[in-house]
Amino acid sequence: MKKYFETNKILWDSRTKVHIASEFYEMDAFLRGKNSLKEIELELLPNVKDKSILHLQCHFGQDSLSLARMGAKVTGVDISETSIAKAKELNDKLGLNAKFICANVYDTPDYLDEKYDFVFISYGAICWLPDLDKWASVISNCLKKDGILILAEFHPVIYMYNWENHKLEYSYFNKGVPYEETIKGTYADTESAIEFKEYFWTHSLSEVIQALINRGLDLNTIKEYDYSPYNCFENMFERVPGRYVYGITQENFPHVFALVAQKK
Ligand SMILES: C[S@@+](CC[C@H](N)C(=O)[O-])C[C@H]1O[C@@H](n2cnc3c(N)ncnc32)[C@H](O)[C@@H]1O
Repeated sequence: MKKYFETNKILWDSRTKVHIASEFYEMDAFLRGKNSLKEIELELLPNVKDKSILHLQCHFGQDSLSLARMGAKVTGVDISETSIAKAKELNDKLGLNAKFICANVYDTPDYLDEKYDFVFISYGAICWLPDLDKWASVISNCLKKDGILILAEFHPVIYMYNWENHKLEYSYFNKGVPYEETIKGTYADTESAIEFKEYFWTHSLSEVIQALINRGLDLNTIKEYDYSPYNCFENMFERVPGRYVYGITQENFPHVFALVAQKK
């Protein structure tokens, strides 16, 4: 696994530099106070004021810091040193009190000495993880009793497509071995010249949910959405403001799922 994580870390360190400067991440608006969270997760998040939140795979921290602006005590974790350095810089610039840790998700408990009210994870996270049983065990381990996981993720069905040629190319189910690809550009800037190898895994909905159940989390809510709040796949169009649809798909195609689960 080491090879896969190291390769992906190099990818994310490079992507982060492009993302920080991209229109996609709207840094100026964010710095002026724009909340980077989307309506999907905002609807599912309980009142976070004074609650402790562990944000796994926090990238360069916009969502973590948006939660901090809402009054939460946030700890963000990410494998990318470049992401974590930028997140810390933004935290200081904005005078917030979020903490950021550079670590592999799977090693997170080694870095923490407290349990959290909420674990938050969003969009484009679990495809980088080979083993969801171990992932669910980390979440369970980090939550207080009755603590809550809020997960908003791209739907496994949309990950089955090759977004350039629209062909069904990837397995709905986790094959146990990663896909290896070399990607030019990034979803946040398709014109960027960066080109890096990546390893990713696909995960079915039942794999996600069963892993959480096996680790003592009760599923309270599961939702599926026929749009993405991000214009992040090739050939998307904006059906209504802020709701993007993959170009070849008709209505009712699953783009995102979200769930809320509580630790018993
Ligand atoms: C698509 S981004 C998450 C996007 C996030 N919702 C946002 O704020 O834009 C995926 C993140 O996962 C991180 N990542 C990938 N594999 C990881 C791992 N094994 N452990 C921790 N972080 C990881 C990457 O560094 C990257 O920041």
